[in-house]
Amino acid sequence: MSGRFVTVDGGEGAGKTTQMGFMREYLERRGCRVVVTREPGGTSLGEEIRGLLLGHRDGGMTLAAETLLMFSARAEHLERVIRPALAAGCWVLCDRFTDATYAYQGGGRGLPLERIAVLEEWVQGTLRPDLTLLLDLPVATGLARAGRRSMADRFEREDVDFFERVRAMYLKRAAHEPDRYRVVDASQSIKAVRAEVETVLAEWLESG
Ligand code: TMP
Repeated sequence: MSGRFVTVDGGEGAGKTTQMGFMREYLERRGCRVVVTREPGGTSLGEEIRGLLLGHRDGGMTLAAETLLMFSARAEHLERVIRPALAAGCWVLCDRFTDATYAYQGGGRGLPLERIAVLEEWVQGTLRPDLTLLLDLPVATGLARAGRRSMADRFEREDVDFFERVRAMYLKRAAHEPDRYRVVDASQSIKAVRAEVETVLAEWLESG
């Protein structure tokens, strides 16, 4: 049996990691085998690429290099982790995926979306997530949460307008693909978001 590919996406400070832990527990209680992974990353080369992408460097990084590195990590991740896990019948819970490239490199940085679509087609073929949970919250709330947490990485240092464009692109994509996306209000308490996420999963499991 082929597994299910579920991605969790959203802006900074949306609480993805915490909610993915709950999602894993929820699915495992229902007897699903679950692989939790993340992008950029998920393989040893992918994690090295993540270091390059998030770290600071003199002269910054061109948008082409940034986008191609995202897809390099994704190619490794798909081949070595995601496709084998799905083929073995596991659920793959992935913290960010190509929607993030559309939102950050497309919406945030202005890369033409057709370029991303070409890379998506090349690297993924027809593979798309079965379900994408968008943990949505106002930019100011998310940045305040993320700021409390850690030192800012190369993306977290962007300004508020950048994150507004990222959020707008996520919401636009969610509106265009209502079958795949579920938007959850991530500004609520952790407990309330958990309850909403579990309702989404329960309904989705029942429908499929
Ligand atoms: P994280 O903070 O969720 O771990 O993600 C790392 C950063 O990488 C986050 O700021 C979003 C960014 N990112 C992109 O810009 N494009 C992508 O395709 C992915 C997967 C992540």
